[in-house]
Amino acid sequence: MRWLAVALLCGAPAFAQEFTTLKGHGGPIMGIAVSHEGTVVTASFDNSVGVWEGRSPDWLEGHDAAVNAVALGDGFIVSGGDDFTVRLWSDAPRVLGQHKGKVMALAVSGDLVASASWDGTLGLWPLTGEGRLLDAPGGVNTVAFDTPSRLYAGTSTGQLMRYDLDTGEALPLANHGFGINELIVSPDWIAYGAVDGGTRVIDHSGDEIADFTLDRRPILSMAYHAPSHQLAVGDGHGYIMMLDTAAWAITRDFRATRQGPVWALAFSPDGATIWAGGLDDVAYGWPVASLDAFEPGISGERSFLRDADTMSNGERQFMRKCSICHATTPGPSRKAGPTLHGIFGRRAGSLPDYPYSETLATSDILWTDATIDTLFDQGPDHYIPGSRMPMQVISGATDRADLVTWLKQATTTEDTK
Ligand code: HEC
Repeated sequence: MRWLAVALLCGAPAFAQEFTTLKGHGGPIMGIAVSHEGTVVTASFDNSVGVWEGRSPDWLEGHDAAVNAVALGDGFIVSGGDDFTVRLWSDAPRVLGQHKGKVMALAVSGDLVASASWDGTLGLWPLTGEGRLLDAPGGVNTVAFDTPSRLYAGTSTGQLMRYDLDTGEALPLANHGFGINELIVSPDWIAYGAVDGGTRVIDHSGDEIADFTLDRRPILSMAYHAPSHQLAVGDGHGYIMMLDTAAWAITRDFRATRQGPVWALAFSPDGATIWAGGLDDVAYGWPVASLDAFEPGISGERSFLRDADTMSNGERQFMRKCSICHATTPGPSRKAGPTLHGIFGRRAGSLPDYPYSETLATSDILWTDATIDTLFDQGPDHYIPGSRMPMQVISGATDRADLVTWLKQATTTEDTK
């Protein structure tokens, strides 16, 4: 594959040190990794992986559901997602590992890939040869290598586990009590972030070094840049806290999204830029040195970022409950669901360029005010069982009516009337 050689091996000058937005994904950004050369790799809810050498990406398509995690090795990319697979992207892209639950995080050491899964196991997948699974005491949210034969993992039940890959020994190092979402392992310390907002640093025997817990939760992302001693922590309130790991002090704390969580973080190779992803369909590159110049929030041009009270109730319903998966504009969209442009009067499952489920493709429902109302009165799981639309009900009759009214004007243009 030509792009891999270009993106990962050539060292193209990637991004200047200015505030950067990478636009193109059709859904939230769940994972980010940056190569030694500065190429940014993003994992998205829209089922795809973006490889950004500049502002127009190459897309890696193959996952059947949201992609939660990406990691880079020497000349390869790995990704893991809600389709339970770990995929390898190299000259010969393929499924590298298979879980029985969502894959939430990945780590790479040499040619060994480790995966954290909600099926309660860690996967170990060498690029050549058989993979194997290690049992964990709960769903696994995060994984990191200490040495090539030693691995740490954080579980949804709050355990921080250490695995010796040579002996198979599994040692519970700490019990946080709340799910551990993120983990950074360095030779001298281990930092972890948890569902309750816990942000702690311990040594390799489990003793506490520092505690940076603020009143924000959950902690959702972490990134570390060893040469500059910077540790970045992203939370559910949209803040990024920067720590100096030489002094164990908070150096910056800033709001990186107008609303919503910071799901993904990664530093540029020189540590001068912190890349962040969240609910917005874009990845933001923040120049660390000039962060103070950026006042709280960013001027969002997307309707999603607009103040909720300037919207009608119908639009608000759509923005909150549908826009993450559906566009209202014509043409193929990169979102997880089909565009709803021209939906009124359309037969279910009839867009030629969207890969519908069997259920929807063979359905004889005609989408009208009444059928869309029924869809969310009963919920897709009852109205069209077998459809890939997630279970959700809008219980208020007025909310449904407002949604249908708004949807009608937003999805109808002259040529669809
Ligand atoms: C998490 C993603 C997701 C959310 C949120 C979501 N949908 Fe969907 N929707 C889908 C998917 C995926 C399909 C295609 C389902 C299939 O093929 O079985 C779909 C299909 C549909 C269809 C049928 C389209 C067609 O061409 O037949 C309609 C109508 C629809 N959604 C409306 C909505 C509305 C209105 C909302 C908000 C109240 C919403 N959806 C929220 C993912 C979503």
